[in-house]
Amino acid sequence: MTAKKEKFYITTPIYYVNDKPHIGHAYTTIAADVLTRYYKLTGKEVFFLTGTDEHGAKIEKSAKKAGIDVQKFCDQNAARFKQAWKPLNIKYDKFIRTTDKEHEQVVTEVLKKLKTAKTPLGNDAIFEGEYKGLYCTGCEAFLTEADLVEGLCPAHKKKPELVKEKNWFFKLSDYEEFLKNKISKKELKVQPIARENEVLSLIQGGLQDIAISRPNVKWGVPVPFDKDQTIYVWIDALLNYISALDYPSGKDFKKFWPADIHLMAKDILKFHAVIWPALLAAIEVELPKKVYTHGFFTIEGQKMSKSLGNVIDPIELCEKYSADVVRYYLLSEFAFGEDGDFSVKRLEERYTSDLANGLGNLVSRTSNLLEKNNILVNLKQNSDKQLLKIFDKEMAECNFNEALGKIWSKLKESDEFLSTKAPWKMEDKKEIKRVLEVVAQNIYNVALLLRPFMPVTAEKVVEQFSQKNIKKGEILFPRL
Ligand code: MSP
Repeated sequence: MTAKKEKFYITTPIYYVNDKPHIGHAYTTIAADVLTRYYKLTGKEVFFLTGTDEHGAKIEKSAKKAGIDVQKFCDQNAARFKQAWKPLNIKYDKFIRTTDKEHEQVVTEVLKKLKTAKTPLGNDAIFEGEYKGLYCTGCEAFLTEADLVEGLCPAHKKKPELVKEKNWFFKLSDYEEFLKNKISKKELKVQPIARENEVLSLIQGGLQDIAISRPNVKWGVPVPFDKDQTIYVWIDALLNYISALDYPSGKDFKKFWPADIHLMAKDILKFHAVIWPALLAAIEVELPKKVYTHGFFTIEGQKMSKSLGNVIDPIELCEKYSADVVRYYLLSEFAFGEDGDFSVKRLEERYTSDLANGLGNLVSRTSNLLEKNNILVNLKQNSDKQLLKIFDKEMAECNFNEALGKIWSKLKESDEFLSTKAPWKMEDKKEIKRVLEVVAQNIYNVALLLRPFMPVTAEKVVEQFSQKNIKKGEILFPRL
């Protein structure tokens, strides 16, 4: 009897199609790809979802500005996202678009369901009301005075619109106790821990009911019981995580839901750790297991923005340095959960120190010596149980830079061992073999662990070092 594979469902945010993909979007998507490859290697059946967010006022406006029909505009930009993930070696299982008919249908069905749903306090889950307040189209979010910095939306540095409109509301305020319970009991894990505290204090401060429809936005899914309104883009977008699995009765939904991890940056934490779980509770769907929010990064000290002209194109970066290098740099340079700074200069420094002089040089020295001395080896898979254990622990917590750090310590150790022993000065063939075998085994162990991060390089090294007769291969990282 074969054991049933454990499932793992991982998602990225679906990105707005008003923009082309940049290195910030790539960051989350690479991380999701690394986790996908990692869990696949540990024997799980993984479903990796990414896609694009295509409705709402922001997209409508951008299309208008570009002078293109909205659907066409979405098609073009969604294609750009799909294209960007290829050179980065990102292998998702499904790319969802919120303009997919199947998705729109699910959104409509959920709205119908909400219409008759009750909150944990026995009230109607949705009700008609009026919103008078601020709206930032850049964020696609309703803001309060307290959210503003000097009267401006802090993310977009723009004055939000003052709107007064009739909406359908979701009774989020009835979910305070429910959410507090789920989160503090870790039934819904919000990570890293600083984010859990942030969410709990947000709930502690009291939750406001939220508008879930908009009367003056044409580009959206119509509210099925109110033809004057379309569904608020964030409600539409969040539902992608279940529509992609063919909620409610699809095979994938039954198999993969609940999500094991929703990945994103901290900018959209509240939507995922407060609104989304409450919404799921209202339609009686199990909550995701974990919401993990990573940090935001700046570009050479500055916020990445079109107006500053410092937006980094991940495709160009891959063409210049290769996907493996970009993936390695992004995930090793700063702690995943914290903010960091991206710089091409640092990328090049790390390339030289860690890849060309580090991994590349050790692989080349070792294989060269093995070939020259005609030494046959018989390496074992993952023989370093201690390294494996630490690596697995760091991966389970999304501590990618730590996981990579452990690998590089191992490489450094091996490098020093090789230099100290200096087998090229030895006479005794047995002695030479003993030294080289230790180093080769370490390289092999490390290469196996590196597969999720640097698939191309790691595969090359794994292939090279799984032979008895290891030969000097091509140079992995030529000097810049
Ligand atoms: N469409 C919504 C998400 C809906 S999910 C149901 C959205 N889209 S977005 O295009 O603005 O993407 C935001 C996400 O892009 C962040 O949460 C993060 O994953 C990624 N990032 C964008 N810029 C980034 C940085 N500068 N640094 C790190 N991550 C970045 O919000």
